[in-house]
Formats: sequence, C-alpha cells, structure tokens
Amino acid sequence: GKGEYDHYMLKEIHTQPTALSNTIEGRVEDGDVAFEDLPAGTFSDVDTVQFVACGTSYHAAMYGAQLLRSAGVRTDVVRASEYASKTGPVDDATLVVAVTQSGETADTLDAVRKATDRGARSLAVTNVVGSTAAREADDAVYIRAGPEVGVAATKTFSSQAVTLALLSQRIAADVPEAAAAADRETMLEDLTDLPEHVETVLETTDAEGIAREFHDSDSYFFIGNGLGHPVALEGALKFKEITYEHAEGFAAGELKHGPLALVTDETPVFAVATSGDDEKTKTNAIEAQTRGAPIVAVCPDDHPLVDVAEVHLSIPDTHPVWAGLLANVQLQLVSYHAADLLERPIDKPRNLAKSVTVE
Ligand code: F6R
Repeated sequence: GKGEYDHYMLKEIHTQPTALSNTIEGRVEDGDVAFEDLPAGTFSDVDTVQFVACGTSYHAAMYGAQLLRSAGVRTDVVRASEYASKTGPVDDATLVVAVTQSGETADTLDAVRKATDRGARSLAVTNVVGSTAAREADDAVYIRAGPEVGVAATKTFSSQAVTLALLSQRIAADVPEAAAAADRETMLEDLTDLPEHVETVLETTDAEGIAREFHDSDSYFFIGNGLGHPVALEGALKFKEITYEHAEGFAAGELKHGPLALVTDETPVFAVATSGDDEKTKTNAIEAQTRGAPIVAVCPDDHPLVDVAEVHLSIPDTHPVWAGLLANVQLQLVSYHAADLLERPIDKPRNLAKSVTVE
C-alpha cells in the first residue's frame, strides 16, 4: 500500500534511496563495474550500440548513450517507435539495448525484433523479471527498483540511469578502441554515496515551496546541456503528465533557436546544471531571464548558475554523472507538489497507462 504517503508516486520518490542501493548492490567490485551475467569479454565483438526506448526510458537511454559515446563507443539512441525509419546500418557487431521498465512496451519490443532480424545481438534493461523483453533478448540486466505503481515513472528512471551508467563502463571496457572513463574510480566511489545524497535531497528540498510559488504559470520550461539535457526532458515530461500544464524540455543552447519566443514573466525556466557541464545552461538561462522569466537553478551550491537565478533547488556536491539524477529528484518533487496543488489524480493521470502494449 501507500503507507504514510498520499500517493504511490510520492512513496516511490521516497523509496529511491533503497531502490538505488538494490540497483547498485554487488555491481561495483574492487573499484570496477561487475555484472554477474556479463563477465569481461562479453562485448568484445561489439562495434556499435543502439539504444531503443520510449518516454522516460528514452531519457534514461539518452543518459547512458552519452556516457557510452564519451567512452569512445559508436552509439545511437533511437525512439523505439521510429526505429524502422531512423536507424543506421545493423549487423552482428551491433548490440541493441532495449530500455524498458515494464519489458512489455510494444514499440520497444518491435524495434528489438527488427534489429535482431537484421543480425543484431540484444540486451534488455528492465525492471520486470520474466517480462517479454527479458525473455526475448539474448541477455537481460535488471534494474532492481521494485514494483512501480504510479503511472509516472520515478524510481525506475533513477535505477535505469544508474544501471546504464554502469553498463556503459562494462561495455566500454570490452569494445576495442574504447575505454572506460578515466575518472571511473571517483565516479564509482561517489556512486556509493548516491542513496544517501538522494536522502539529503528528500529531507532538505523546498520543491513544495517552489511549486506553490509557480503553479499558476502559463508554461514551464526545463533546460540543461550534456547530461542535464535528458534530465530537462524528463523534468518536462513528468510535469506535463501529472499537472496537465504545458511544459517543454530543451537542450539549453536550443532555447534561442525558437522557444525563446514563448518566454515571458509567466514562464518559469528550470535550469539543470552539474559541475561537469559548460557555461551553456547559464548563458541561456540569462537569455530567458532578460525576457522576464524567473529562473529556478537546480544545481550544486557552488555552481555559477546560483548567482544568476531567482530561486535555487540545491543538490549535494558529487560526480557530475550522479548530480543529474539528484537534480531529477528535485524536479520529480516539483511536479508532484504542483500536481497536488492543482488537485490532479497523480497516480492515474488521464489518458495514460502504465504499460503501452499497442504500437
Ligand atoms: C513516463 C512513463 C512513460 C514510459 C514509457 C515506456 O512517466 O511512464 O513515458 O516511460 O511508456 O515504458 P517502459 O519503460 O515500460 O517501456
């Protein structure tokens, strides 16, 4: 049941420290990444990785894809529903990674079948043991987030992103000419602190106050660059799903290429930043601010964005790979509280289903 919480979504947001501990358990050993069923050498024959996914899982896939690409692996990330028309060459050196919480999303299953028909090898990253994706793929990795009841995915996004970050290091270590991240050791050390850092966010957040301040705005924009980009997209998706308000996420640098026309003093801009990104998010937040938009900085306390923004949602200082996920927890809470103030049916938004089994 929901226990002490008003909604499953809030409970699932608060379960993230435990879910993440389960996700990580046994997967970091002697300063390196270990997956029980994927020993060293598993990916030696791979030269290209294609991620396929939908919705929130697509945002987690973007996260993993950026990390894998920066480790030197040829990487594509395709919305599963567009796989037939948007994918490049596929052969037996292609690994298709299906990211799907339920393991039952029709578009994702179809994309995997199309890839394997063309000779690709497949790996499912899923929450549900025995799901169709897990059964059909050559290999399966479980995110171990526990069952998710709320239609809006929360803890499963965090567990997917962590699993994919670890998987990116496992794959890169095998693929010839790629290499796991140079700062892998600090990254993995900081990962051990992630559940505790999420706990800190949950205990100290002022997301409710910010939701109260802004919940009758015209539109909501979310920007970020690098790993902040998928977090911005996810922030906007969550916001529109449960508040029914208009929200959009952009790569920070894209704001000035069109969306800026929508920016007014009635459109708060949530700017996501970590210590690992460049100045783009800050300079583009200033562009929006000049047009009157209130800026909500979602970043560590020492980030330059804090000096610019009207409001700040703080995240603990950690490796940039995990900082994005802490920013996402803040945004989950903003969406939740805004939806609650607007009296929306948070766990079952209109028109949406937990698992989409039609194409
Ligand atoms: C968003 C949400 C959906 C799912 C999408 C994919 O909160 O829940 O966008 O992420 O339908 O579902 P799975 O991961 O089960 O393939």
